[in-house]
Amino acid sequence: MTILGLESSCDETSVSIIQDGRILSNLIASQDFHVKYGGVVPELSSRAHLQIIAPLFKQALEVAKIKKEDIDVVAATAGPGLIGALLVGLNFGKALAYSLNKPFVAVNHIEGHIYSGFLMDKKPEFPLLTLVVSGGHTLLLLVEDDLNITKLGSTIDDAAGEAFDKVAKMIGLGYPGGPKVQEYSERGNPKAILFPVANLKGEYDFSFSGLKTAVLRHIQKEYKNSENIPEEEKPDIAASFQDAVVRALGKKVEKAIKNYDVKTLSLVGGVAANKVIRNKLSELAKKYNKKLVIPDIEFCGDNAAMIAYRGGKLFENTVVSNLTANAFPALPKDVFKKL
Ligand code: KG4
Ligand code: ZN
Repeated sequence: MTILGLESSCDETSVSIIQDGRILSNLIASQDFHVKYGGVVPELSSRAHLQIIAPLFKQALEVAKIKKEDIDVVAATAGPGLIGALLVGLNFGKALAYSLNKPFVAVNHIEGHIYSGFLMDKKPEFPLLTLVVSGGHTLLLLVEDDLNITKLGSTIDDAAGEAFDKVAKMIGLGYPGGPKVQEYSERGNPKAILFPVANLKGEYDFSFSGLKTAVLRHIQKEYKNSENIPEEEKPDIAASFQDAVVRALGKKVEKAIKNYDVKTLSLVGGVAANKVIRNKLSELAKKYNKKLVIPDIEFCGDNAAMIAYRGGKLFENTVVSNLTANAFPALPKDVFKKL
């Protein structure tokens, strides 16, 4: 079974071909030019996807050493994401499926991230507890099998990645913020400033907006504004913020491990590249004797291999889409089962 995956939900165009669960190619073209705008510019993103998707597809076939006629199923991200960006990959996929007369599967980007764990040699076993931490989402999910995913909790305001990006901007570290905060944190003391972790009603919900405000207040109180923060004090602020994020995530994951008898714990999404968060989950997996699966860094960020893998699993479960499937910007409310 040869599956083509297409991903274009944000600022990465990616094309991947997987065959019987093995990755033959996974090409990722990142739109680095957004850096000068301090964030992703949606219209520029769509145009860049449009320019690169066809040549990237051709290259993916070459790397995989297959012809387009060898593709059995076409899978593409339908959402959530930037609508104009999503339309590029989705329509390319639909047109290709139509011209090749092959089945088409529209894939939810978040489900793609969940399945990035399955691209590793060490595969997750169900039931699986997954923490999804990306630029747009923070979700704690219980995955019982391919078609039964329950949302235990999610963020009530900012996503974890968003908080990393915004705090990086406040400290003057630039964009994208996550990797910069991690880099500065390595030279800082995580206990230098005690930033608070929100106490929420929802047992498994998260909130990062208060933490972001606490960092802003600290900066205003100590330095009046961002420009006055001495370079040598930035690592302590970054490390203390990161420590608060780790405490917030760890607390809810630990609670879920205690209450649900899962076999595997997994950490996915762009923020899963963070070393300290990876260490925290590995510590929890050891403490509660769970199998731990965290994708290699290459598969934490947006990639089409995870979309192909998830598309293949849906196809195996006889879930296919028709060619009228549309792009959607936000996570539909009923996509995961509720507690
Ligand atoms: O999953 P992703 O590539 O895109 C979305 O679907 O949102 O996640 C991107 C997010 C950004 O907010 C970025 O700052 C964050 O992941 N990120 C990190 C690290 N690397 C990327 N956050 C913390 N530590 C990192 N090392
Ligand atoms: Zn993503």
